[in-house]
Amino acid sequence: MSVIKKCLFPAAGYGTRFLPATKAMPKEMLPIVTKPLIQYGVEEAMDAGITEIGVVTGRGKRAIEDHFDISCELEQEIAGSDKEELLNSTRDIMDRCTFSYTRQAEMKGLGHAILVGEALIGREPFAVVLADDYCVTEGDGVLTQMVKLYEKYQCSIVAIEEVPVDETHKYGVIAGELEADGVYRVHNMVEKPAPKDAPSNLAIIGRYILSPDIFDVIRSTPPGKNGEMQITDALQIQAQQGKVIGYRFKGRRFDCGSVDGFIEATNYTYKLQSN
Ligand code: G1P
Repeated sequence: MSVIKKCLFPAAGYGTRFLPATKAMPKEMLPIVTKPLIQYGVEEAMDAGITEIGVVTGRGKRAIEDHFDISCELEQEIAGSDKEELLNSTRDIMDRCTFSYTRQAEMKGLGHAILVGEALIGREPFAVVLADDYCVTEGDGVLTQMVKLYEKYQCSIVAIEEVPVDETHKYGVIAGELEADGVYRVHNMVEKPAPKDAPSNLAIIGRYILSPDIFDVIRSTPPGKNGEMQITDALQIQAQQGKVIGYRFKGRRFDCGSVDGFIEATNYTYKLQSN
């Protein structure tokens, strides 16, 4: 049984880059081939032994709740047909996981979204998945890799990857000491720095394991970039105490928060599935 039992999915954002598709549909429900982005994230969590899923939603996000629920009419309609097996993956998730939801009424940053999720997490270490970072791996999923690392380091962990220097303004960026293969002890973190202010080109991607004291730290961290509560700033406080690991995960990540990344992920997955 995993030491990490809960995973939080901040999913209240508008997804304006995908308008008009996201006018009435959550961006987390955009499909890569036939499966919505958030389902890939939930499956990654489940593979890591996590079965308690918490989702921070907002207005217009009800489709996420419906997706992880029974759809009586539809299921009756396809019962006994060759279409039935297309719902096996969601059935499996529903058999093994519990879902709880809470709403973020105002968009005040990722740190705020995570703080809103406190009601679903309580006081235990937990994972965070940003579903629009879609990750593909050959072996263990990214969260499985991170849970294994948590067992050793017992502190907050952020997944990182190298990005081109001119793209640091899109990410939280870390600097740290290499402690083991792919493992950095983080000493500095900056949210979306201009290339000239970036401490490195190691960018945080949407996978975190957070120690439970993070909620108190977020509460006491002043607003940062864009006047929002940034998880990067809260983690920087933990990092100054040597309590954050940056982990260069094994695998490939697609930025499905951008149209280009989304199309790339779709083509990649379609090819993979049709081989
Ligand atoms: C958020 C975080 C950022 C991180 C990124 C990963 O930014 O604030 O630190 O690098 O997710 O995708 P967002 O992409 O939500 O603007």
